[in-house]
Amino acid sequence: MKTPIRVAVTGAAGQIGYALLFRIASGAMFGPDQPVILQLIEAPVDKALKALEGVAMELDDCAFPLLKGIVQTSDPAVGFKDANWCLLVGAKPRGPGMERADLLKDNGKIFIGQGQIIDAVAAADARVAVVGNPANTNCMIAASQAKRLPPERFTAMVRLDQNRAQSQLAQKAGVDLTAVKDIFIYGNHSPTMFPAFAHATINGAPAAKVINDDAWLQGPFCETVGKRGAAIIAARGASSAASAANALVDHVRSLVTLGAIHSVAVKSNGHYGFDANVWAGMPVRTTTPGSYEVLTGYDLSDAFSQQKLAATNKELVEERAFVADMIK
Ligand code: NAD
Ligand code: LMR
Repeated sequence: MKTPIRVAVTGAAGQIGYALLFRIASGAMFGPDQPVILQLIEAPVDKALKALEGVAMELDDCAFPLLKGIVQTSDPAVGFKDANWCLLVGAKPRGPGMERADLLKDNGKIFIGQGQIIDAVAAADARVAVVGNPANTNCMIAASQAKRLPPERFTAMVRLDQNRAQSQLAQKAGVDLTAVKDIFIYGNHSPTMFPAFAHATINGAPAAKVINDDAWLQGPFCETVGKRGAAIIAARGASSAASAANALVDHVRSLVTLGAIHSVAVKSNGHYGFDANVWAGMPVRTTTPGSYEVLTGYDLSDAFSQQKLAATNKELVEERAFVADMIK
């Protein structure tokens, strides 16, 4: 039996938490032979903590063989203690009519404190994955507070966007989802994101050739993927939860699977023209469990791609400027 890994999850009693914890405990995130201890962190609010008790009871009632312990706390110093993975979900979701930028000042503050505490108490090999919106900039904020953990350990989720893009391409081409490969998300988890279709393939052939409709790819496709979160909020009256939890399972599972290639928002070192020190979606390959290399070989020098990359980079730079006072 392997040693259990400690997985801290913030916002554990929220919508995404409720769709996520059971999958982690069942082995979907770290594999069927990897025991886990869940360290569940909620806001210090009676209602949230009471709800968390209920979630923990349900986890007990699942009798998951891999679940070796549950910590419930509103104290991040307890919740992040010795954590190997810190999944930062807890934050306000946007409601109808709001843009992600509307969340920045409120949610940004959460990630200052959490970045500092994770750096102080988490395990030496700690990895951080940010879901709470605006995820890229919140991730940058958390990483900015760390002195011990290197910035590469902090990633933000654009996997939901990749999954959405894959699904849209498969439906348009009328093929099975698994026929679509190499669709990657560049930039911000926001409507400016760029689902770069130029390198995507469908049954091994260039997706653009198979679909044969550049106007659709450049217009409705990018727009549907970029605004899917808002479409779900409009339809459900609440932001995506099960698909977000599923994407986080995919995000971490790929990051611990050698050779996996997928879209992750990581610290830019100037790749693809992103400003250094913004966290931008781009393709990465897992090199050792939890570590990755950015794949820089995709040619996005055509005018359309350049314009899309510039727009999403501009937004990330603006978000960073908006919180500059906070992260001093
Ligand atoms: P929710 O309101 O249902 O749950 C959020 C939970 O976080 C609540 O239980 C709240 O009490 C808790 N919380 C708030 N502040 C906290 C803190 N400081 N520490 C610990 N817990 C705290 O929201 P949700 O639907 O689960 O969404 C959570 C976040 O994920 C939102 O910001 C949402 O916009 C974002 N989201 C991101 C993606 C993505 O693809 N990156 C997708 C969907 C949702
Ligand atoms: C999503 O993409 O579904 C989430 O980020 C929620 C939102 O606010 O769009």
